[in-house]
Amino acid sequence: MVELDGVRRAVCPGSFDPVTRGHLDVIERATALFDEVVVAVGANPGKSTGMFTVAERVALLQESCAAWPTVRIDTFAGLVVDYCAAIGAPTVVKGLRSPSDYAYEAPMADLNRRMSGLETVFLPCDAQWASVSSSLVRDIARFGGDVTPFVPAPVAEAVARRAREAHS
Ligand code: PNS
Repeated sequence: MVELDGVRRAVCPGSFDPVTRGHLDVIERATALFDEVVVAVGANPGKSTGMFTVAERVALLQESCAAWPTVRIDTFAGLVVDYCAAIGAPTVVKGLRSPSDYAYEAPMADLNRRMSGLETVFLPCDAQWASVSSSLVRDIARFGGDVTPFVPAPVAEAVARRAREAHS
């Protein structure tokens, strides 16, 4: 797979429901490695993890990544390999928190490379984010807990608002 336009572009694909400080750490570190980092929210029908719509996730990512001019937020449906080919990105970047993340990600990385040559760069997450996941953030928020340490401020507000709506 080749770059379309000479730009060293990487895609960070994910659900981002919602984006966490762990995601942001990986995205920021990816900006040091690539000219452009496209954070792509998967919009596959049938996968509903539940707290935010795709449009809301995009808005929260845009606000959270505003300080990084080389980061662009997008959505995609279908296969990651097809999306990456369409935008001219030969590489995806994924953060790894644990051996179980690697066990989940490695087969996808292998098949993506075999399907189209798409390479995966794994970044080990900063230890302070090793336990942070979108699903645990949603869980804490649903039961009224404070997620401020784990997500950026706009996300903490949105999560608290969503939790209040669910209980009203
Ligand atoms: O944050 P997540 O939930 O791990 O992100 C999942 C996402 C959207 C990246 C994943 O569902 C995905 O890659 N979907 C597209 C389909 C695809 O390409 N699957 C891999 C085949 S090897």
